[in-house]
Amino acid sequence: MWRREEMAWGLFAVPEEQLGVLGDVRGLDVLDLACGTGYVAAWLARAGARPVALDFSGDQLGTARRLQARLGPAFPLVQGDAERTPLVSGQFDLIVSEHGAAAWCDPARWLPEAARLLRPGGRLVFLTNSNLSTLCVPAEGGVAQDRLLRGQREVHRVHWPGGGFEFHPSHGEWVGQLRRSGFVVEAMHELYAPADGLDHPFYEIVSPEWATAWPAEELWVAVLGQPAEQ
Ligand SMILES: C[S@@+](CC[C@H](N)C(=O)[O-])C[C@H]1O[C@@H](n2cnc3c(N)ncnc32)[C@H](O)[C@@H]1O
Repeated sequence: MWRREEMAWGLFAVPEEQLGVLGDVRGLDVLDLACGTGYVAAWLARAGARPVALDFSGDQLGTARRLQARLGPAFPLVQGDAERTPLVSGQFDLIVSEHGAAAWCDPARWLPEAARLLRPGGRLVFLTNSNLSTLCVPAEGGVAQDRLLRGQREVHRVHWPGGGFEFHPSHGEWVGQLRRSGFVVEAMHELYAPADGLDHPFYEIVSPEWATAWPAEELWVAVLGQPAEQ
């Protein structure tokens, strides 16, 4: 992923060029929130942005550091919690979180924190598994089926049988929390697999067949209108 030359979104690599959610990032101060190995920040740096990448896992940041040394470019790596970052307010034009904060942080906490970190008019772009795919995953886990297997209220915070929690709010809950945090929703792109989509090498949430019929992922774009309510 660090080596990829063109930015792409999600399991089925929908090109950024096709969606245009980031626009021209040259000269922008960008935060990659819950950055993992930091490949999104690396793409943004190559596109001319000034990224900072934050994650609470020292191991993930260690991998990011090794990849910076091996492949470049280098950018600041910060260890911290996306719900309560150690970063100064109002210092970013764009926050990107690719399969990061949206799934693993409480939206009532990380969205106001993202709003705090953005400049007025700043943009938040986040990618997460679709609410629909989560509704179709059996209680015992596995891949999404072709029917609803969970109640919508259950998936706001899902406890997976293999361990761990994830947040998969409904669209109404996302819009409500974004607005309460000071954001205006600009777009929500539903990402499908192309007709010739292949299994992802390591994520097994949906099959390509499922994702040609229903959206596997949601890419939200919101703009900060007013300061967050505290
Ligand atoms: C699937 S990875 C992100 C993928 C990423 N775009 C990449 O380049 O690897 C999710 C990341 O979220 C991080 N994470 C989970 N909860 C977090 C939190 N509260 N604060 C910061 N990072 C968090 C995990 O440590 C993990 O690295």
